[in-house]
Parts: sequence; C-alpha cells; structure tokens
Amino acid sequence: MSRRDPLLVAVEGVDGAGKTTLIRGLETVLRPLRGTRPARVCVEIFRAIAEPDDTVLHQTVIPGPVRRLAHLIELSAQLRYRTGPDGRPDLLFDRWVQSSEVHCGPYGEQHRPWLEHMEALLPRPNPLLWLRVPPALAYERMVARGDRRTRVLTPAALRAHLVEQADGYEKTMARADNVIELDGTQSREKLLDQAAAAIESVAARAGGVSQAGGAVRTGGAVTTPNVLQGPWDVPHGP
Ligand SMILES: Nc1ncnc2c1ncn2[C@@H]1O[C@H](COP(=O)(O)OP(=O)(O)OP(=O)(O)O)[C@@H](O)[C@H]1O
Ligand SMILES: [Mg+2]
Repeated sequence: MSRRDPLLVAVEGVDGAGKTTLIRGLETVLRPLRGTRPARVCVEIFRAIAEPDDTVLHQTVIPGPVRRLAHLIELSAQLRYRTGPDGRPDLLFDRWVQSSEVHCGPYGEQHRPWLEHMEALLPRPNPLLWLRVPPALAYERMVARGDRRTRVLTPAALRAHLVEQADGYEKTMARADNVIELDGTQSREKLLDQAAAAIESVAARAGGVSQAGGAVRTGGAVTTPNVLQGPWDVPHGP
C-alpha cells in the first residue's frame, strides 16, 4: 500500500451482514494492515455473566447504557494500548460506536454528557465501511451459520429484531463521517475487492498522494482523511 500514516478502518452492519468474513479477507489482501480488533470483547464478558443457557440474551439483562459505556471504554482502551513495531499501527475494527448506538439505545439523560465526551475523544475511522444487507438476507445468513440467536429467539422475533437493527443503522450511518457503503448482497470476492480498493484509495490520500483535494465523501459532510491521532491527552470531562 502506498502510504505512510496508519489507518483506522472499521466495518459496520447488522448482525450476520458478513463483517467478520470481510475482515478476514482484508487481513489477507492488505498485508500492511496490522491488527484486527475483534468485535467488542466486553460482549464476551457480558455473555459469560448474563447468558447461563440458550434461553437468555445478555441484552435483555444488562441495561443498554451500561453496555454502551463498556463499549466506549473498550474501544478507547484498545486504541490506546495497541502498539505495533513503530508504535502506531493500522487497525481494522469489527464494529465501531455505531453498533453500540444501534444495539444499546440512547445513553440516558443522567450520564449523557460524560458519554458523549468519551465518544468525542475517539478518532473517526476512515473509511468506515458499511456492509449494507437487507434484514431478510442477514437472517438467512444467521440461520445458515447456526447462530445462537436463532435458538434463543423465535424466527419472527429475530426477523423483527433485524429489521429494527437495519433501520437503526440507516439512521446512524447517515450521521457518520467517512462512510463507504458496500452492497453486502454481493459475493465475498466482489466485496473484498471493493473494500480493499476503498481502503487503498483512502490510504493513498493519507499518505500524501494528492487526489481530488484529499477529501473523502462522507455520510453528510466532507472531512479530511482521519489517520490515527489523538487526542490522547484527555482533557477534563464536563
Ligand atoms: N458475501 C457473502 N455472501 C454469502 N455469504 C456470506 C457473505 N459474507 C458472509 N457470508 C456468510 O454469512 C454468515 C455471516 O457472516 P459473518 O459471520 O461474517 O457476519 P457478521 O456480520 O460478522 O455477523 P455478526 O454480526 O453476528 O458477528 C457466515 O456464514 C458467512 O460465511
Ligand atoms: Mg462477526
């Protein structure tokens, strides 16, 4: 890849959209991209403490604001403590803050200023790849994969949940920066090609290769490309 600055790339989309599959492909194709961060580790912890068997989803037990706070802290921690040979690695995230919003709901009034402040401290991925699939296809893929949620929820409930999720992503991605939308109904190969090309294009700009003024089309605005940079010296919160 023809660039110097580290990249922060994230893949978003509904459950079963194909995020992890795409990321595995990208890791192979974009070798200089060092280090995938998993979908949030705190979810594994929530599962361990709140999903004793196949009848419960932790989302129904642990309050949304608590889960969202945990996600923010985890993203911050992963960014801060992740270091590569040169101390500034490329990172490829399986989900970003948009998932927290869609899956956990609003922050709640009481702690909202704190949480918004924490979120504002996170750098913005560029590109933020949005794997967009119809909820019905996501459902089929979850069934084919034998996902646990297909056992906990009835088919109707899971379908309704995915429709709601898809709607949530439509709204949150419209507000996000640096979004590159990918038609997730395509084959794995085509998606991988498109995603890799999108990342290469951003990387070329971030590396100083001037293209069309170096700006990236975004969900609602035009921003300069984001490379991994602070603010890591955290100012006092509200
Ligand atoms: N482009 C594709 N075409 C057909 N099937 C796909 C495609 N991408 C992924 N799949 C299949 O769909 C299923 C879900 O994919 P994957 O696990 O990557 O989704 P995910 O978005 O990471 O899901 P989750 O949100 O639950 O982590 C898997 O069985 C995978 O093999
Ligand atoms: Mg996944």
